[in-house]
Amino acid sequence: MFKKYRRGINVRLYETTADLDGHMFAYGRIGAAKTCTLLSLSQGFLDVRNYKVFDLFGGERNEGKYWTLPNEDIDFWKKCNMIGNLDEEGPKQYNVNLLYPYFESKLPDKLPKKLIKQNKGDKLPEKELCVNSKVFTIPLKNITIEDIKLVLSNVPDTARYMLGEIVAAAKKTDNAGALSYLSNKFKATNTSLYKNFLLPMYREKLLADKYCEYNLDIISEIKNKEVVTVLCLDFVPNNFKLFVINYILRQIKQFIDTCSKTYKKNILIFREASAIFKSVDDSIIDDTVKAFKNLMTNYIRYGRRGMYFFLDTQSSSETKGMVQGSEDFLIMCKITSWRDKEEICSELRREKRMTSDQIADLANLKKGEAYIVETGKVAHKYKLAFPRTMYWKKEYPDFYKVLWERYGGHWIYTNEVKDYINERFVECNNKYKEKKSIKVVEKSIIKEKEAVKEKKEPSDNMEVLNVKEYGGLRPLPK
Ligand SMILES: Nc1ncnc2c1ncn2[C@@H]1O[C@H](COP(=O)(O)OP(=O)(O)OP(=O)(O)O)[C@@H](O)[C@H]1O
Ligand SMILES: [Mg+2]
Repeated sequence: MFKKYRRGINVRLYETTADLDGHMFAYGRIGAAKTCTLLSLSQGFLDVRNYKVFDLFGGERNEGKYWTLPNEDIDFWKKCNMIGNLDEEGPKQYNVNLLYPYFESKLPDKLPKKLIKQNKGDKLPEKELCVNSKVFTIPLKNITIEDIKLVLSNVPDTARYMLGEIVAAAKKTDNAGALSYLSNKFKATNTSLYKNFLLPMYREKLLADKYCEYNLDIISEIKNKEVVTVLCLDFVPNNFKLFVINYILRQIKQFIDTCSKTYKKNILIFREASAIFKSVDDSIIDDTVKAFKNLMTNYIRYGRRGMYFFLDTQSSSETKGMVQGSEDFLIMCKITSWRDKEEICSELRREKRMTSDQIADLANLKKGEAYIVETGKVAHKYKLAFPRTMYWKKEYPDFYKVLWERYGGHWIYTNEVKDYINERFVECNNKYKEKKSIKVVEKSIIKEKEAVKEKKEPSDNMEVLNVKEYGGLRPLPK
């Protein structure tokens, strides 16, 4: 961060001088540097005020993974050295954990993993890692009805009941391998719960047993403040993204509700919130998005002590209704739409926290400039530094195939994880197949026994039949 800033410049440089008091919302038109601003600020809170950063949603472009590389806008940092003093070098290599949910058919063979100093082909001792990819699974018994609402647009009562029964019947040692048998047992195989949730989970093996070593350990992520945790949804089917995000949010909230003060400083970055919070016309929004919006609204309203959301969105009308009364820390990048200005600023003007001139100036802001309104304070125009890490640029080539290779190309191979998960899956699956075949055998044995019994002791019916056969002349001898 900047320590000092020489005079002669008409805007202040923003510094993170106090702890967060609420969530942060960045507004601005397309390309107004909203995301970069949020990144710079979160890095300020991480470096200076010891916050833990979770990057949970990278928008459609999956922008989170750029945390793994230091910023390369060299000209900018040279200029910064001329106009002020930096207490550290600008670009920084952060320690980053990339979290990848296990969707077997989508997971690539290798993922980024890098040592602080590493030559190609070096072995990787854990403690010197600066970038680590962690594939994770979710315990089957942790699934709730709330989760299903984020995958299925319509969750009828029968689906709730069936899921409840399946989860209750599953043992702690069961994983996705049990789903086929249990779905059959509770007659779920013809339902949309099965087709859209249970069957994909059975195939992709994301749901694991309680003791699987890849189960997501969110508590250790929260406690490890020096490491930025980035959720990568690059290899997740679209209809499961909200489910995964919410699972993590729920885990974080559960821990924060009970943990000590030390761990109540968590920033949760969420890019392009409009994708989820568009409230222009609720009736056309998918039910899964509505369900997620409700959950997020709750996290935002009640999760303030310990979970600070950093959200960016183009227009405030998109987040309307959700953040009322909690617009704690507003960042306004370039905004040209009169309606958006009205929406965001009218209350601030009424409270005399922003002047008409400042509101008019919003349309003239350059990239890297923003009006910031902190909780209970008046608006000021600030200059913001670039993020110390890379960030998404349209000229960048594919991250995994080209960019990461260009910066050294260090990888971890995923075959070990796949083998481990597969082995456990097959074990569980076989156990249930055996159970099924034992049942089939048992049934046929019972049938056979009954048949033998019937042969030995012909029933009255048989007698009648035989009587008929013989034209009623004489019964068969017993
Ligand atoms: N502090 C800064 N100073 C100068 N230029 C900046 C700064 N931050 C970002 N920019 C420029 O603005 C561009 C857009 O930034 P960014 O991706 O953050 O915008 P955005 O508002 O999130 O865009 P989108 O609406 O597409 O999500 C960057 O590629 C960069 O060139
Ligand atoms: Mg953006």
